[in-house]
Amino acid sequence: MDKPKVVLGVTGGIAAYKACELLRQLTESGHDVRVVPTESALHFVGAATWSALSGHPVATEVWSDVHEVPHVRIGQTADLVVVAPATADILAKAAHGLADDLLTNTLLTARCPVVFAPAMHTEMWEHPATQENVATLRRRGAVVIEPAVGRLTGVDTGKGRFPDPVEIFELCRRTLARGMHGADLAGRHVVVSAGGTREPLDPVRFLGNRSSGKQGYALARTAAARGARVTLVAANTTGLPDPAGVEVVPVGTAVQLREAVIKAAAHADAVVMAAAVADFRPATYANGKIKKKDGEDPEPIALVRNPDILAEISGERPRPGQVIVGFAAETDDVLANGRTKLQRKGCDLLVVNEVGERKTFGSEENEAVVLSADGGETPVPYGPKEALADTVWDLVAERLD
Ligand code: CTP
Repeated sequence: MDKPKVVLGVTGGIAAYKACELLRQLTESGHDVRVVPTESALHFVGAATWSALSGHPVATEVWSDVHEVPHVRIGQTADLVVVAPATADILAKAAHGLADDLLTNTLLTARCPVVFAPAMHTEMWEHPATQENVATLRRRGAVVIEPAVGRLTGVDTGKGRFPDPVEIFELCRRTLARGMHGADLAGRHVVVSAGGTREPLDPVRFLGNRSSGKQGYALARTAAARGARVTLVAANTTGLPDPAGVEVVPVGTAVQLREAVIKAAAHADAVVMAAAVADFRPATYANGKIKKKDGEDPEPIALVRNPDILAEISGERPRPGQVIVGFAAETDDVLANGRTKLQRKGCDLLVVNEVGERKTFGSEENEAVVLSADGGETPVPYGPKEALADTVWDLVAERLD
């Protein structure tokens, strides 16, 4: 079988060196990658590097190998174009259809999914000109990844950082698999909660649960690959890398998770509550470590109810037309319990898993049935958590339409 053809456009930003890692990920996973840098990109990483890593010649303008008509052929034959890093300049040119070098010509002739991974200083990213260009590109179906927040070139810190190349690769892989018109959540804002809350007893102990956060992260990754702006409220998920293009809000307890979800949900099109939220928390928090006393039985731990976030947002619907999805882990009478829970919580969809040894906690796979408030039932066979995530977004997208 032919290898999928990927064009890696590289523009003039310091993050060009990180695109070498993205290129390696793509080639080593069986993609045929043609690198098309801009003249400015070559100030950061030279043509020899791109050529050696991709196994193809590299040109920046349309006047090399003219007999092969590269200015149209590279774009026409591509299965995916990814521009990483994408400067404010390339976003402006792409939004306005300029074609003054090989990369801009390629962007005009490509009829495949296009991903931009912007990296620039915060001021440039936030400038209304850039924001309008990004909105234009998204409206046309391109996936423009939100830059990460962190250290920028020099001493600055802020939004504009190039996301982890491995995460950009993951997003490209998914975008490629979905093909043209795959960015069906473009222009949408979705909120996903992930992980498990921890309710502290004292400075060293907490009541927690076994949720790894992997299903929530899969939901966030797949939504970003489908073009959505994603806020991921992550409870105790240290160790999981931030997905590319996703705003991660770390939280610890159920009360903190509620605050973050309610804030993010105010303007969101969809909220997916994949987090395992503790139903109860210790009634009191001991400022010092609780010590055992010789010869005495331990004090019982008094608990109080935590707010039910899913029921609260389902009841209030902060935004009209918002789609709300819950998760339920059940051990017995899975579907019957799921139906009752769907009604009790008042959400639109409920993903019901049966919890067991191999399933759900910490594993890469999952199996579930998605119940809908209108009586629908969508079984999702045992498989990667991303497959379940895509089914959830399919059902959400239908309802948003
Ligand atoms: N959830 C929530 N707030 C809580 C508890 C749960 O928002 N305090 C959400 C979870 O994120 C999940 C769904 O509700 O999407 C189902 O959680 P679950 O704990 O199974 O529901 P409960 O109502 O607690 O039912 P059970 O009696 O089975 O514990």
